[in-house]
Amino acid sequence: MERLKLGVLASGRGSNFQAIIDAIEAKTLNATVKLLIVDNSDAPAIARARKNSIECLYVDHRQFSTKDDFFEKIASEFTARNVQLVILAGFMRIVRKPLLEAFPNRLMNIHPALLPSFPGLHGQSQATDYGVKISGCTVHFVDGGMDTGPVIIQAAVPVSPDDTEDTLSERILKLEHKVYPEAVRLYSEGRLKVVGRRVLIEGYAVQDEQYIVNPPLR
Ligand code: GRF
Repeated sequence: MERLKLGVLASGRGSNFQAIIDAIEAKTLNATVKLLIVDNSDAPAIARARKNSIECLYVDHRQFSTKDDFFEKIASEFTARNVQLVILAGFMRIVRKPLLEAFPNRLMNIHPALLPSFPGLHGQSQATDYGVKISGCTVHFVDGGMDTGPVIIQAAVPVSPDDTEDTLSERILKLEHKVYPEAVRLYSEGRLKVVGRRVLIEGYAVQDEQYIVNPPLR
């Protein structure tokens, strides 16, 4: 099967970007990253791209008179490289129409909470502040809202009353690094179908009491 051509959008650390790179390297993901776009020239994600000979582009939003123009530019750079799926990996902006329309149901994001609970910034401290006993992460397709698109995979972790934002973030992040490459793998195998708000996963059926990860990770 042909390798899936990925584009990545990041603003910061890029550990999820690294997890995708590692999965490709380990051959558990049949893909190639064609381009990383950052909106922050100091993003540590840039060094990860360099180290892996991945093309990287810094797009400065201040160079554009509107947000739509900024996203038009991003869409055109991905399109020019025949990118098939765009991965948001800690990208700190709401995606606008030009990019959404260029990649319908072909944009993914990971969020550090079990959506629709705790969308937006600091999903982990929202969870500890609320006092929930279970949180986790969600991979979803991106729509025009704030973490509102169709859910692909969710994975759960326990939350202790002693958890801080940092301890819970660390626990969730370990799971993010497994779940995100898994979601991209399912996409690359053509197994995801979006029906309204629901994402159907071919070859996967829910079992009773199998509630921790959906679908089970390898
Ligand atoms: C992750 O917690 C992700 O869920 C959220 O932003 C953070 C990005 O971390 N969307 P990194 O840049 O991938 O290390």
